[in-house]
This record gives sequence, structure tokens and C-alpha cells, in this order.
Amino acid sequence: MAQEEERLRVLTGDRPTGKLHLGHYIGSLKARVELQDKYDCFFIIADLHALTTRPKKQDILRMRENIREMVLDYLAVGIDPEKSTIFVQSAVPGTYELNLIFEMLVTLPRLTRLPTIKDMARAANIDEDKLPFGLVGYPVLQAADILLPRAHLVPVGRDNLAHVELTRQIARRFNRYYGEVFPLPQALVPDVEVLPGIDGEAKMSKSRGNAILLSDDPETVRQKVMKIKTSPRRPEEPGDPESSIPLLYHRLFNPDRDEVAELWERYKRGGISDKEIKERLAVALNRFLDPIRERRAYYARKAEIVEDILQEGTRKMRRVAQETMEMVWEAMGMYGAELARRIASS
Ligand code: TRP
Repeated sequence: MAQEEERLRVLTGDRPTGKLHLGHYIGSLKARVELQDKYDCFFIIADLHALTTRPKKQDILRMRENIREMVLDYLAVGIDPEKSTIFVQSAVPGTYELNLIFEMLVTLPRLTRLPTIKDMARAANIDEDKLPFGLVGYPVLQAADILLPRAHLVPVGRDNLAHVELTRQIARRFNRYYGEVFPLPQALVPDVEVLPGIDGEAKMSKSRGNAILLSDDPETVRQKVMKIKTSPRRPEEPGDPESSIPLLYHRLFNPDRDEVAELWERYKRGGISDKEIKERLAVALNRFLDPIRERRAYYARKAEIVEDILQEGTRKMRRVAQETMEMVWEAMGMYGAELARRIASS
């Protein structure tokens, strides 16, 4: 257990959008499964972040199911609640508390200049002059997520790098004003992150309807694979394997490296149809997904298990958050925090 204390902390996570797909696997889940053996990992389900663009009751009600599906996918790919802490953001009071403190340490223009805010507004059909205050504050809330467990490492996609940079600035400023409380967290960006969709679009995304879900059944996977967009060519024609999406998927998901090399060569020389490549891809992908489906079904059968895992993870995160907030208030010398403690213990 002493060793446990010394391991560097990792924090990353997702807004609860529901079922995850192959793009999520390549872009983040795969790395998380590996990171859990080396680091003390915290995986946040950022339901408060989801509110920044979707605050309506009907969206909130949908989140419950989304959280469950997402956690089932985490467990299915091998995120292990014995090794890692999975928790729900809105159930950790420190998140709100630290967010407000951090709001004092960043300027408004610094936030509105970030392209990510405009991108998220556009994606949610929000006009630029109607930006919710909370959406502008999205990256500050993210800084609170990262620094609340005093994380050292933050695995994120390239699109979130600017938020980690902002987090470092906030941490630096806090430490300078009040004393060293926070480590300066480092972003970890995966080499392969953006997986094209089956329609050939640059990014696989559930809302675009071009995704293969980790929970799709074998027949659905087969049908989606057969629909993957390829440029027209005759089988005997040489092709450029680098630009073939079915071959890219083979390279990323087919564990039979000899088969992948063979398909690659035959495509380059000419002498293989896209249909054959896809048929073999369907088999390979289903082989890759089978153990994931099995683990998913195992957890889905146990009615209470997701709730239990979230209770345990959130309980642990609340403890860590409490510890951090005590350090924060102590460093800041806030009278109100002392008063609150005396009230609680009297
Ligand atoms: N911003 C992340 C996303 O694009 C989700 C997220 C919220 C996050 N808090 C985080 C990621 C903290 C890493 C660290 O969905």
C-alpha cells in the first residue's frame, strides 16, 4: 500500500455520451487500460461538463442511461475497478468548490480566445452571442477535475491540449499566490487518435452515424464493415494501401499480423478486391470484439454492479477531493473554511 501512495496520478475521462465506439478505443480506452498498471488512475464521468451545452431536464434524464452504457464499455475493454477509480463528477463537492476558486485565476479573454469553446457552441447549435457562462468556463471546470486529485498526467486528444495548458497556468498561478499545492500536470497525447468513420469522414462519431460501436453485435459489425467507403477500383489494379480505410482498420484491430501484411501487399501489387478485404475485416473485428462483448454481457447481467463500482470510485474521489480542498483553503488562509470546520466538529 505504501507503494500505492508513490505512484503518479492520472486523470482523464469523458462526458457521458452513451455507448462508445472503435474511435474511442483507439483514441483513449486502449491507453487507459495500459496506464492502470503503472499509475494511480482516476476516470471522471464529466456529467457537469455535459450540462454546459445540454442543461435541459430531458438531457439530464438521459444521462443516467448514458453513464451506465459508458461504464459498461469501460469495463468491457478492461478498465478494472480494482486498479482504477471511476467516479461521477457531479457527486464530488470539491469539483464545484475548486472550480470557483480557479475562476478568479483566469481572465475572460483567455477563455473566449480558445477555439474549443466556439467549436462546442457550434456543435450544439448555440449562437456566439448566446454562449452560456458555464460553457465559457468549461476549461476552468476541466482544470478543477484535473487538479482536484492533484494529477500528474492527463491523457487527452489533441483537441483538449489547450485545456491542459490552461490547467498548468492555473496551477502555476495558484501555487505562486498561495503556496505549492498542485503539481504541473502533463498532457499525454496518443500517436494514433483520430479514426476515420465508415463513411470516409475524418472522424468516427456516433452523431454522424458512421461509427462501429464496441457493443454492436457481430451481424451489425459485418453490415457496417461491408458499407465502409472505398474509392472505386478494379481488383487487379494496384492501390495505395495507406489510403484504404478497410486496410487501416485491419492494421489497428486485426491481431493476425501475417494476414494484414498479406492483404497490404496484395492491395499494393493489385490482385485483391475491396470486398475480400472487408469480409476478412468483419471476421477480424468480430474476433477483436468478442472478448469485449463477453465482458460487457457479464457486467450487464449483474444489475447492481455498475452502481456499486461508481459508489466505490466516487467515495474514494470524494476523500481525495476533501484532502485537496483542505490543502487549498489552508494555503489560501480562508477564515470561512476554518469556521466551517469548527461548525462541523461542534
Ligand atoms: N473535455 C473532455 C471531452 O472532450 C472531457 C473531460 C472533462 C476531461 N474533464 C476532463 C478530459 C478532465 C480530461 C481531463 O469530452
